[in-house]
Amino acid sequence: MPEALSKDESEVTFEALTPHIGSLAHGIDVSKPVPPAVMTRLRRELADRSVIVLRDQSLTPEQLIAVSRDFGPLEKHVLSNFCLPDHPEIFVVSNIIEDGRHIGAHGGSKQYHSDLSYLPEPSMGSLFYCLECPEDGGETAFASMFAAFDALPEDRKKWLAERDGVHDYVWNYERAHLQNRAPLTEEQKAKTPPVLHPSVRTHPENGRPALFISEVFTRSFEGEDEAESQALIHELMEFAAQPAFVYAHKWRSGDLIIWDNRSAVHKAMPFDEAKSRRRMHRTTITGDRPYFNG
Ligand SMILES: [Fe+2]
Repeated sequence: MPEALSKDESEVTFEALTPHIGSLAHGIDVSKPVPPAVMTRLRRELADRSVIVLRDQSLTPEQLIAVSRDFGPLEKHVLSNFCLPDHPEIFVVSNIIEDGRHIGAHGGSKQYHSDLSYLPEPSMGSLFYCLECPEDGGETAFASMFAAFDALPEDRKKWLAERDGVHDYVWNYERAHLQNRAPLTEEQKAKTPPVLHPSVRTHPENGRPALFISEVFTRSFEGEDEAESQALIHELMEFAAQPAFVYAHKWRSGDLIIWDNRSAVHKAMPFDEAKSRRRMHRTTITGDRPYFNG
């Protein structure tokens, strides 16, 4: 007999956006408290599909924080100068300059990564809410690391399953951001030493293996040559970014995306920064230490 659905739950449906990744949710207004049964379905969908899109939301910072907390405790970003002063859980991503200063992190990473993978306990997921966006470009692209791992040759899977990756925030910051961001303080550097993570991680909610590396934060494989590691990481990420494994979201204001950092990587697509404004609010859900039990 089918499970009985509550009225709130019966109005919720999910539509696949691509075969491997991404679901469009219908019937959920997250400006109001989300009923527990609906949260259970959202969590399950997020674990299985890695990315959930909700259209036509209207969220104050308080409301975005409230729905984010339904997924777990929130991180406060190491770049506290780009967080909302009254709501430090919200990290602003924007190219807008007001009173001579950028109101948010303006160089959203153009390469695939998993947020905060450089922490010992990386983020479980992120919520990204669009306030303003360009008409052309500025998409966020997501790649399924479940699909990427599943499609690798068996010998490559085995090699990766036995290797840790070195994730290094300071290394990446100093090679990528010094032209347009202030240097890190010694205190910021001390908070983010390199960490080791399995290159393949088991998703704790459905047991599926996912590739867990990125060109942004993975400096090398532990014990392997850095240049050789970089070449392999590049090759693997090219493989993961093949169109069949990717969903690219064209933003409208009022869109909210929830993504799972344990099974998806994401990147920002370019847009004409001189002509268009982009203003996004992000919250980041704390996560657990990655493990692999294959
Ligand atoms: Fe990100």
